[in-house]
Amino acid sequence: MKAAEPLVLRCGQKLPNRIAKAAMSERLGDAGFAPGEPLARLYTRWSAGGSGLLITGNVMIDPAHTGEPGNVVLEDDRHLPAFAAWAEASKRFGSRCWMQINHPGRQAPRTLDAAPVAPSAVPMKGMGGAFRPPRALTANEIEDVLDRFARTAALAERAGFDGVQIHAAHGYLISQFLSPRTNLREDAWGGDAERRRAFLVECVRRVRKATGAGFALSVKINSADFQKGGFDQEESMAVAVALDAEGIDLLEISGGTYEHPEMAQSARESTRAREAFFLEYATQLRDRYEGHLMLTGGLRSVDGIRAALEVSRVDVVGLARPLAVEPDLPRRLLDGTSKAAIEAGPSTGIDAFDRALAAPWHELQLHRMSRGEAPDPRLGALRTAVWYLRDHLRAGGRARRGG
Ligand SMILES: Cc1cc2nc3c(=O)[nH]c(=O)nc-3n(C[C@H](O)[C@H](O)[C@H](O)COP(=O)(O)O)c2cc1C
Repeated sequence: MKAAEPLVLRCGQKLPNRIAKAAMSERLGDAGFAPGEPLARLYTRWSAGGSGLLITGNVMIDPAHTGEPGNVVLEDDRHLPAFAAWAEASKRFGSRCWMQINHPGRQAPRTLDAAPVAPSAVPMKGMGGAFRPPRALTANEIEDVLDRFARTAALAERAGFDGVQIHAAHGYLISQFLSPRTNLREDAWGGDAERRRAFLVECVRRVRKATGAGFALSVKINSADFQKGGFDQEESMAVAVALDAEGIDLLEISGGTYEHPEMAQSARESTRAREAFFLEYATQLRDRYEGHLMLTGGLRSVDGIRAALEVSRVDVVGLARPLAVEPDLPRRLLDGTSKAAIEAGPSTGIDAFDRALAAPWHELQLHRMSRGEAPDPRLGALRTAVWYLRDHLRAGGRARRGG
């Protein structure tokens, strides 16, 4: 099966197979935003599970702007030995490990960010007031954010990670630069499609300059934001083509934002014809994109993976939620002992509850593994809700105290 074949990237780095663990924010950073033993334990487990590539959950580039309680931040070499231990654990059984690097922009909860920044002062819609309206970044601040992305990438390389992935999807800062709904600037960073993508292109260039030749550089983008007047498929394809010209190593395709979370559909919502949510887009992009492509979202079975790799001709498939429940699923899919992921998730019978609890339910599985426990596919909705509320109240208290 093609999924078992190694892949050599443009930078010369070799992935042992084509199944990647897509980023899942672990929220396991300590009070000083550093990774610790729990993260190392979780990633050892994933490394033993057979994924050729592990992409970490988003690591923030600035402690003043984080997206979730418990985020890890990498901005200087204070905690480098802890990052090195995390990288070592992630690669223990032969997988490669790349750090996803991110800035939340306006998608920073008010409990964590007293003064969120964004390309323009466009507030989040709805969301029950969980996010403060952002202010627009100045030109000097934009330079600083770009330098921070480059600095974090250089530190990730020093710590022993094999690459970084710039998070330009899901409505975070770079995604906000890309979207005409959230980027109303009329300077070098906005005004038309080329200037809206200038931040991302410049970010790629600075990260490349700050890192070594064999260090992989990936970008995760949305196929679309699925919002009227937002970042659409045509503009996304133009971004992909521009990134191809920059020579990046792997472009991961996803979709959606907090306002319209298309990436968080349940597998039940994907059709039999296309297990992967963004398959049509990937198939169309294939003819226009020379480099390596990764497709994430909805993939659950050997048949679905085969269709993505062999029919749509993407190079890598990304799995996220299934690996929160079955960390060794890649090994079993590759050796033929499993045909598909088990169906698991909160199931109260009320769709809105199940949706709201899906992310915490998966996070709690990561936290179980980080303590050395097995994931629990039958984990109840009530236990998830209680854990989530407690965890956020604790984190809110820490944030108010400045911890
Ligand atoms: C708990 C959780 C945390 C996530 N955190 C991130 C993240 O930090 N960065 C990111 O790019 N995507 C994140 N995602 C999205 C996944 O990478 C993926 O795009 C999405 O879950 C669809 O893939 P799946 O159907 O295989 O789960 C997260 C998903 C979950 C469930």
